[in-house]
Amino acid sequence: MSVSKYVKKELSHLGGGSATRVNVPPRPGLINLGAGDPDFDQPEFINKAVYDSMKEGKTHYAFSGVPEFRQAIAQYYKKFGYEVKDPFGQIAIESGGSQAIFRAFGALFNPGDELILPEPTYGGYSQPASYFGTKIVKAPSKKVKGIFRPDFDNIRKAVTSNTKALLFCNPDNPAGTVYTEDELRQLAELSIEKDIIIIADEIYVEFTWDNHVHKSLIGMKGMEERTLVLMSFSKTFAWTGLRAGFILGGPELMRYVGAVPTGICSMPVPFQYAAAKALTTKEGWDFVAMMKNQYYQRVKHFVKRMNEIPGISCPMPEGTFYTFPDISGLGISSAEFSKLLNEEENLRAASGSGYGPTSEGHMRFALVVPMNGIEEACNRIERCAKKHKK
Ligand SMILES: Cc1ncc(COP(=O)(O)O)c(C=O)c1O
Repeated sequence: MSVSKYVKKELSHLGGGSATRVNVPPRPGLINLGAGDPDFDQPEFINKAVYDSMKEGKTHYAFSGVPEFRQAIAQYYKKFGYEVKDPFGQIAIESGGSQAIFRAFGALFNPGDELILPEPTYGGYSQPASYFGTKIVKAPSKKVKGIFRPDFDNIRKAVTSNTKALLFCNPDNPAGTVYTEDELRQLAELSIEKDIIIIADEIYVEFTWDNHVHKSLIGMKGMEERTLVLMSFSKTFAWTGLRAGFILGGPELMRYVGAVPTGICSMPVPFQYAAAKALTTKEGWDFVAMMKNQYYQRVKHFVKRMNEIPGISCPMPEGTFYTFPDISGLGISSAEFSKLLNEEENLRAASGSGYGPTSEGHMRFALVVPMNGIEEACNRIERCAKKHKK
């Protein structure tokens, strides 16, 4: 008997979600640069903060989240040029970035509404979009000095009378782009002119390189009630397992986000106390600075090594711990190169085609192994590229 006839029609195709998030069975010697799961363990002061809050009896319902956490978030976002006026009305606590995506979509989309995604794009938006019956319309980005940048002609062409929102990731996974002030201004203008909401996925906000600075769209004139910022602690504090995040937006829109029924507040209360601690203490930010420094060394080294390989060219990303080299000079597809690396070199990486057709000919490497692993990964990539270059 098939049960598919009973299920919600948007689920009946059983979409697989992000290919890099598949659990990989442990394989001796595997270097996994496929998924963006930071290699750093959750620091001890966080473990202790979780335990301490449990010991103190902070284990009861907190219907709209713990006030200390909300206030810490409001304080934190000042850093990006935005003042949260009402920490209680403008923030929704979420258990990670994926829940933030789900809830933002849940608040906005009716079946048939359209969501524009500049492409290449992170794959984790497509499943929640199809769950809500949202049509994704992709706007191919253009390459400028090797980096994918939003193409406003393509974005404008993608707008129809059904467009409800545009979602952009800044700093961008997979392309490593940090939006310039001029690009943000153009997005703000488009949002106001076309009367659409902008969803800003800012979960890589702490990892920007060289002179690239993150600015948040929500702080720009006229954008407070038009922007939903999605945030996760998965990357900022390497908490992929603990689950923590939030949505930030204007008070009116956030009332609707808060009404999406995800089961009161689903980030456990002791985690919220620990998250507040991470956001407000030197220990928290020292931990972030340590990771940031290591990522930067890894990224710089990896980029240098890739550019020494015939057939590969790799721009320095402006942000994130991903690199997105162009491998088209090898004369093989990104899916093929990914397969060869996996089968012959015991190295996992994501093919560019997984992020949309515009980024075929690229590979995404998540630099989530220590420096000696990065060096070994570069050796394996070089060997494989030299062996198979057409
Ligand atoms: C751009 C982007 N948004 C959202 C998420 C989901 O965040 P989380 O892992 O906290 O659910 C990820 C995870 O890799 C991501 O890369």
